[in-house]
Amino acid sequence: MPLLNASDPADLRRARQHVVDGHLLAFPTETVYGLGARADDDAAVAAIFAAKGRPADHPLIVHVAGPDQAQHFAAEFSATARRLMQQCWPGPVSLVVRRASGAAQAAAGGLATIALRCPSHPVARELLAQAAALGVPGIAAPSANRFGRLSPTCAAHVRSEFDSSLWVLDGGACAEGIESAIVDCSGAQPALLRPGTLPRASLEAVLGLAVLAAAQTDSPRVPGALKAHYAPQAPLRLMSAALLDQALQVSGGGIPGLAVYSRSVSWRAAKRLARAMPDDPAQVARELFAVLREFDAGGAQLIWVEEPPADPAWDGVRDRLRRAAAA
Ligand code: TXA
Ligand code: MG
Repeated sequence: MPLLNASDPADLRRARQHVVDGHLLAFPTETVYGLGARADDDAAVAAIFAAKGRPADHPLIVHVAGPDQAQHFAAEFSATARRLMQQCWPGPVSLVVRRASGAAQAAAGGLATIALRCPSHPVARELLAQAAALGVPGIAAPSANRFGRLSPTCAAHVRSEFDSSLWVLDGGACAEGIESAIVDCSGAQPALLRPGTLPRASLEAVLGLAVLAAAQTDSPRVPGALKAHYAPQAPLRLMSAALLDQALQVSGGGIPGLAVYSRSVSWRAAKRLARAMPDDPAQVARELFAVLREFDAGGAQLIWVEEPPADPAWDGVRDRLRRAAAA
């Protein structure tokens, strides 16, 4: 079964009841689709790890209706965390804070900290508000894809990752397209663990900081921070515009199954997969995972992508592409 229609209130209530009853539900957020289970039920959360094939010590993000629900999971909120909650919620920013003892042990992968996010997608908000009204303080949800694969940005992507018994609440295509920014507010200094669509400078402005520290890279506890992640099936190579142009002229025509995603090099050889990369980073974020999935579905054997500009507005997209290239 169930592909449920989020714009039908009866379907939304069924979906909410399914998750309140302790079952898995894939649901839309403004970033990507999440694979959710009630965060206060360790057995329900264990089913997420099993379905994704994700190691049990890799923590999940807990989604909440607002700061009141977030309180349930946090031991305390630093001044940094409060500012971000006030100014960036609801929205695509997750906070890592110290975890309340005993709360959401499985979702947190046993860590002393927990990641919290209040999504802005109207369907996610309604789902979380209804669940909260029934005493469920949060829904733990990683991206609704198998471990290491591309995050899904529409219901059809989710369905292609899991068997048809999974309940999917269809709320259309995700507006942001890449996962939330994650800011670690649990230590002495805040750190950006994963760039999202909200520019680093905006986070710095909210925090009143000249520089928001970068993550210490490649912590195995942070799968979004693993070098190889967000990968299409075909190997992906990032290249400068000049190198891409040269490579296409030299050998592009002769490489079977070559796909190209580029801003400045146009390449429309017959029978090839090619997409023009938009100039707007927000637009690229929105379509990126769908484009890579489309290349896979089109039988791509090799994907060449033009390196995005160095401008910080491209941080989120660049991060995902570099990880995809490292897979
Ligand atoms: O936009 C998003 O954040 C999406 C949607 C569904 O909300 N979710 C998402 O979840 O991207 P996931 O599981 O694919 O990525 C969660 C990231 C991982 O890199 C995880 O390790 C990190 O959050 N994380 C969770 N708890 C953490 C913690 N206590 N400390 C550090 N990182 C944590
Ligand atoms: Mg993920």
